[in-house]
Formats: sequence, structure tokens, C-alpha cells
Amino acid sequence: MKKIDLRSDTFTLPTDEMIEAIATAHREGRLGDDVAGEDEVVNELQEKAASILGKDRALLVTSGTQGNLISMFSQTKRGDEIVMERMSHTFLFEGGAMASLGGLYPKPVEGVRGYILPETLETAISPDDAHYARTAMVIIENTHNYAGGVVTTPEQIKALCEVARSRELKIHVDGARLFNAAVALGIKARELVKDVDSVQICLSKGLSAPVGSIIAGTEEFIHEAHRMRKKMGGGMRQAGIIAAPGIIALEKMVDRLKEDHANARLLFERISQVPELDVEPPDTNILFVKLDRLGIDAGRFSRELAEKGILVYGEYGTRTRFVLNRMVSREDTLYVADAIEEIVRKVSG
Ligand SMILES: Cc1ncc(COP(=O)(O)O)c(C=O)c1O
Repeated sequence: MKKIDLRSDTFTLPTDEMIEAIATAHREGRLGDDVAGEDEVVNELQEKAASILGKDRALLVTSGTQGNLISMFSQTKRGDEIVMERMSHTFLFEGGAMASLGGLYPKPVEGVRGYILPETLETAISPDDAHYARTAMVIIENTHNYAGGVVTTPEQIKALCEVARSRELKIHVDGARLFNAAVALGIKARELVKDVDSVQICLSKGLSAPVGSIIAGTEEFIHEAHRMRKKMGGGMRQAGIIAAPGIIALEKMVDRLKEDHANARLLFERISQVPELDVEPPDTNILFVKLDRLGIDAGRFSRELAEKGILVYGEYGTRTRFVLNRMVSREDTLYVADAIEEIVRKVSG
């Protein structure tokens, strides 16, 4: 039975071109020791990423989590607090490392579809008083995973940044899926980060590279981040073997994200016809389906889907997440829609 993997866009495999690019980089003698700054491919990737993101400089890091943590640790002091959305990756899914490794205190706030309203930020900032931790940063997740791949627009970002700036907060964007947001809005990624201090983008999600993330910002930030990356064990040697696929990810895999968005929309259009299921139209490639009316939990739903060769995580209570990605075609998407209808008939009938 064919497997259709909708657990996450992290399951995308590298393309043949990516694998060939690694061999080419080696053959052409472009690999080197990146801790010494001598890997030409890493340098090319970093320059390209900085230019795409409209920032002074960029740095290759091992993962999105490492990129977010380095961005936090490089721009705040131990004991500071960081405002983040209650269901954000930085709050929920980074092993508590901001606190355990960085001595930072998370201040989670409720967003609206993942977006922290400017007035929410305003009230979350602690007074300049010795009773409180110093509020030093706000994090914007774009797209917001847990809200359902929701896009934050440049106007929303600008409004939030105005509050943050007026209170001297640093602004970091967790843009693990920033290009999904840019493609959905039909704008350049740089438009989404022009008002912020630092951004992290993942090469290894919808863009299909096997490993790696990029952080970008000012010269000063990257200088500090480079030092922090070494301290966190992220200084890599012939990292060109990661950068070579990363270059292809940035050059060739961004525009095709619209295919994943179209498939998410197709799945939504089919599932929204099923009265037992609740689903909101997706902004990008992530679709959450509520199962309350069907009366089963995500664990049971995921097992039913697995019997039909469809993989989803079963841990979201009464919600199931479908993440459309390059490994899932339009035909696969239609198969998934048929399978869901069949499961609903079986469970409710
Ligand atoms: C919104 C968001 N931020 C950060 C990350 C972390 O990326 P990584 O898995 O590369 O550490 C993820 C991963 O799923 C994510 O969804």
C-alpha cells in the first residue's frame, strides 16, 4: 500500500538535484571548514539568504529550534522575559530550552489565530520595576503552525512592531514557514521581516532540503549569533553538504509551495462538505480538522487513516492536522479526501 505522509512538511525528502549539488560542490573543491569560514557553499547560501530576506547578514544553523534559541540568547540577557503566543513553537516545542539553557522567562499570551494583537503585547510588557522580569523581546510565528498555518500580514507585523519599538523590545520572527506566508500573500519574504530584528527560516520543511535553518539580521546580531552558535555546538565543518541543497531550496522550491497550498484548499473543499467535521479554510499548507461532532479523538482517527496508508499525528486531542507537502500530489489529496469520507461513514453509520 502506498504511504501518504501528512504528519509534517519536515518529512519531505531532498530532490535529486539537491543530492547532485552536494556531489558537485565536493567535485569542484568548494567544501571547506565552515568554523574557519572557508566553506564556499555555506558562504554562498548565507549571502543569498541575507539578500532574499533583506538583511545585512545570515547564518546557517542546524535546525529551526537552534535558530530560534540563538536569536533569543544573542539579543537578551539571562533573567529577561520574552512575550510569545500561547500555542507557539517557541513556547511549546523547544524543550523548555529558553529557560533551561538561556535562563529566559517565557510570557505566553493569547493570540487571535496565532497573531498577538498590539494591545495584548502592550499589556503583557512588564513595568520597569524591580518586582518584574525585564520584558526584552516579542516573537512572531509566521506562518503560525498550531493556529493552522495562519499567515500574519506585513500590516499586522508593522502594528505589532510599533508597540515593541516604542517599548524597546527586540522582535524575532519564527519564520519556519515564512515562505509559505510570502507565497500565500504574493509578496517577497523580505516584506514580512523588514520591521524586525531577527528571523529564522527553515530550509528543511516545505522547501525540502534535508537539514538546516537560516537566521538573519544586522551585522551586529549575526556577529553575536555566530559566537552563540559555536557555544551551542552548532559550529559545523564541511557544512557545504547542507548548504548545497539549501541553495536549491531557496532558488527552486519557494514558488512550488503554492501547489501545497492548492492541495490544502482542495482537501478543505472536500472535507467541508462533510457535516460531521469542522474545518476552517487554510491560508497555506496546514489544515486542522475538528472531530468533536464525529465523536472520536485524533488517536482513533489517525489509526483509521493509517489503515488506508495515510499518516497523521494522533496527539492533538479532538483535532487532526494535515500538512500538505511536496511528497503529496493532487491525486493523493483526492485519495485522502475519499478515505476521510469513508471513515466518517464507518464511524457515524
Ligand atoms: C513554527 C516552527 N518553528 C520552529 C520549528 C523548529 O524547527 P526544527 O524542527 O528544525 O527544530 C518548527 C518545527 O516543526 C516549527 O513548526
